[in-house]
Amino acid sequence: MQNSLRPLCLSLETLHRVKSRMLEAMERGLSRRTHSQATVRMLPAFIRSTPDGTERGEFLVLELGDTHLRVLLMELSGDTDQRVTMKERCFPVPDAIAQGPGEKLFAFLATCLWEFLDGLHMPKTDFELGFSFPFTCRQTRLDQSYLISWSKRFQCAGVEGRDVVVLLQDAINKQDRYHIKVIAVVNDTTGTMMSCDASAGPCEVGLVVDAGTNSCFMAEARHVEVVEESEGRMGVVTEWGSFGDDGALNDMLSPYDLQLDQASLNPGRQRFEKMISGLYLGEIVWHILTELFSGRMTPALLTKGSVQTQDILEITDEQVGLATARRVLRALGLEASDQDCFNMQQVCKAVCIRAAGLCAAGLAAIVSHMCRNRELSRLKTSVAVDGAVFRAHAKFSQTLQQLVKQLAPECDVTLVQAEGSSKGIGMVTAVASRLAAQRLQVNQTLALLQLSPAALGTVQALLRREMELGLKKETNAMSSVRMLPTYICATPDGSERGDFLALDLGGTNFRVLLVKVGSRERGGVQIISEVYSIPPHVAQGPGSQLFDHIVECIADFQTKQGMMGQTLPLGFTFSFPCQQTSLDQGILLSWTKGFNASGCVGQDVVKLLREAVKRKNHFALDVVAIVNDTVGTMMSCGYHDPNCEVGLIVGTGTNACYMEQLRNVGTLAGEEGRMCINMEWGAFGDNGCLDAFFTPFDRQVDEASLNPGRQRFEKLISGMYLGEIVRRILLELTDKGCLFRGRLSPKLQTPDIFQTKFLSSIESDGLALRQVCAILEELGLHVSCEDSVLVREVCQVVARRAAQLCGAAVAAVVEKIRENRSLEQLAVTVGVDGTLYKLHPHFAQQVQETVRQLAPRCSVTFLQSEDGSGKGAALIAAVACRVARHQRA
Ligand code: BG6
Ligand code: GLC
Repeated sequence: MQNSLRPLCLSLETLHRVKSRMLEAMERGLSRRTHSQATVRMLPAFIRSTPDGTERGEFLVLELGDTHLRVLLMELSGDTDQRVTMKERCFPVPDAIAQGPGEKLFAFLATCLWEFLDGLHMPKTDFELGFSFPFTCRQTRLDQSYLISWSKRFQCAGVEGRDVVVLLQDAINKQDRYHIKVIAVVNDTTGTMMSCDASAGPCEVGLVVDAGTNSCFMAEARHVEVVEESEGRMGVVTEWGSFGDDGALNDMLSPYDLQLDQASLNPGRQRFEKMISGLYLGEIVWHILTELFSGRMTPALLTKGSVQTQDILEITDEQVGLATARRVLRALGLEASDQDCFNMQQVCKAVCIRAAGLCAAGLAAIVSHMCRNRELSRLKTSVAVDGAVFRAHAKFSQTLQQLVKQLAPECDVTLVQAEGSSKGIGMVTAVASRLAAQRLQVNQTLALLQLSPAALGTVQALLRREMELGLKKETNAMSSVRMLPTYICATPDGSERGDFLALDLGGTNFRVLLVKVGSRERGGVQIISEVYSIPPHVAQGPGSQLFDHIVECIADFQTKQGMMGQTLPLGFTFSFPCQQTSLDQGILLSWTKGFNASGCVGQDVVKLLREAVKRKNHFALDVVAIVNDTVGTMMSCGYHDPNCEVGLIVGTGTNACYMEQLRNVGTLAGEEGRMCINMEWGAFGDNGCLDAFFTPFDRQVDEASLNPGRQRFEKLISGMYLGEIVRRILLELTDKGCLFRGRLSPKLQTPDIFQTKFLSSIESDGLALRQVCAILEELGLHVSCEDSVLVREVCQVVARRAAQLCGAAVAAVVEKIRENRSLEQLAVTVGVDGTLYKLHPHFAQQVQETVRQLAPRCSVTFLQSEDGSGKGAALIAAVACRVARHQRA
């Protein structure tokens, strides 16, 4: 007895080996390179989501079985306790249909559908339908599936190689009483997974152990290499019954498996299935019995098929098992002793425990795979189980559950009895319908933010017009871009020397810097700097308080650097629009971004700074230049690249400066040479010229800002606003039921929860969904996998629009420079700074791509500023000092 059963005993260690071989086989099935030869096929099922409980409406199901067709209408309430009601009717499928011409079969399916619907007497005539077609197919979409070959009882002419959805849809369309759209073809395993109630948490694995065995699970789409999708999840049907067909299970096969396989219809195939599923368990036991009772052979015992799987499962039961064993042995013509019955029970237990063990190893492989690929430390999931083997006896499930725990200790797996595949097919249809409706809504919403090349060309042309208006004295007031002269007429030439102080105010950080400018041979420019914070109440309080704070920071810096008492020349990067009449004077025209300190607009900022120094009375300052950050950036980059004639900032705010011909600057006297113009393009559109481009989200963001109606272009592009645009879109999508299951959380209603760094991190390449979820969780948003995919899509659309608009604006600038110089081709460098441009994974590349398209005659190099604009301000101060020295001499 012991010897007979030994080959069936698989130790835990062996099951671990089975698990790891299954994992390898699954990997081969998922990889594009090895998919076609893989034994475990891993077929994509094009199911992108499991039910989330919000599905609602009435859905039709056609479930074609071997002998019957079941037609079903499922109604989902879609409310908190998702009620499901089903009405169904079965139609026998006659042989003449199952083996007749294809058209007849599909006409039959359609006729049964009308009969069923007519019987319901419903006013509704529009339906969506899910079709269960249990034959080997090559599925290419949820609603596209090509029959490879008929099996079982079916053999209809003219169907193989064709898309069964088209055939069914054509048959349905032959009448016009009902409008029915076939939206899903479903495999029975996925039906099992989808039938489970969503309220107990996600059920992302389906397991069927019936006559055959199969499983499915929700994989990360990017790991399913045979489909194009890389976002979100994708249902995969493993087809694991054929695991081992390449010999992977050879060292575990018992002599009974070999006998069974040899005698089967398909020797060498479906090796895993033959050790597990209902079609074979009885036969394995039979092979063992023929060995055990070889001395007492009876005609019944000699007959294959004389032992039923159903009985085997019952015999394993502690209570009724021995009695069933006796009955079965008697039926085999054996006069069974108590010992015989006991032995029979041992055999059945061994066969079933092995089957449960192998099934557990397979399931453990699936959940471990999910856990690893989702980069989780623990995975919690329900597994929907179905099939005769589960239904017949609780023991199988218990053993399976215990072993999975041991084989995949990192996963919490709960087995749930599925509620029948018809419900699951209905759910697949309902989920597909929900996703399609949501997609439509999402597309409509996001279409507002998608700009065609022609639209971008219009933006470019509009900016060009505004630039011209802004440059001319008479029309300057009409233009939304100020085109402010900066009194900087040359980029650095490398001869600048000396030690300078610099301030950098208006970006993410306020910095005080000591900049030592030496000869290039002696290391060029060296910078020591300190970052100070400007709290919002200071940025938006009385101006005197803001400038006092700045002076205190300078004093602190000087003390730390042991520079108290020294008066170095100072370059002041002040990143707000200023009207300059000289290099060291700048009248603040308006605050922008997060600043709104009172009493400053209309004042000379240098004067405000000097007054604050006076109030403090502890040191002297020698402010020699006030520069915009775009200008500081251009100068800083110009030190390395003499071709750098444009400065660009895409950070908290956005703006650009460039070298304009003095003769074009109507607001200044002088004809010769060039001057750097601070465009203040953030205000582009403030005169209404961009109104056609604003979406409702842009208008909301503008209205809620510190400066409504102003900096409209900046509010489409820069880091301070993109997160808010995203949040407003998410609110709308939630309201439309496309996100967060339609529930608004207080968190999402909190302004400014998304900052630039969030936009940058959420779009990072290769970020697993879990990381996307983690970023959102960190913000206090509880998201599903689909939510996080959609949030990421919204971020992408908003950031892409920003980058393209920025690109269109850069194109307008470089084209103007080219035309100013009457060049066929212009080679120019743009010095760039700003956290959005630097940290966002795609922004820079999208800006550059747009410039390439819109300014094809300019070859534009983008040079990122590494040391901030303070360095540029110091270089400007250096030039100013040199000029002043010359003038004195
Ligand atoms: C910094 C410059 O590097 O970039 C600042 O030194 C500039 O002058 C800033 O204002 C812009 O980017 P952000 O993202 O800080 O606003
Ligand atoms: C805002 C300011 C502008 C600055 C830009 C980038 O648009 O008005 O002066 O250059 O932000 O910081």
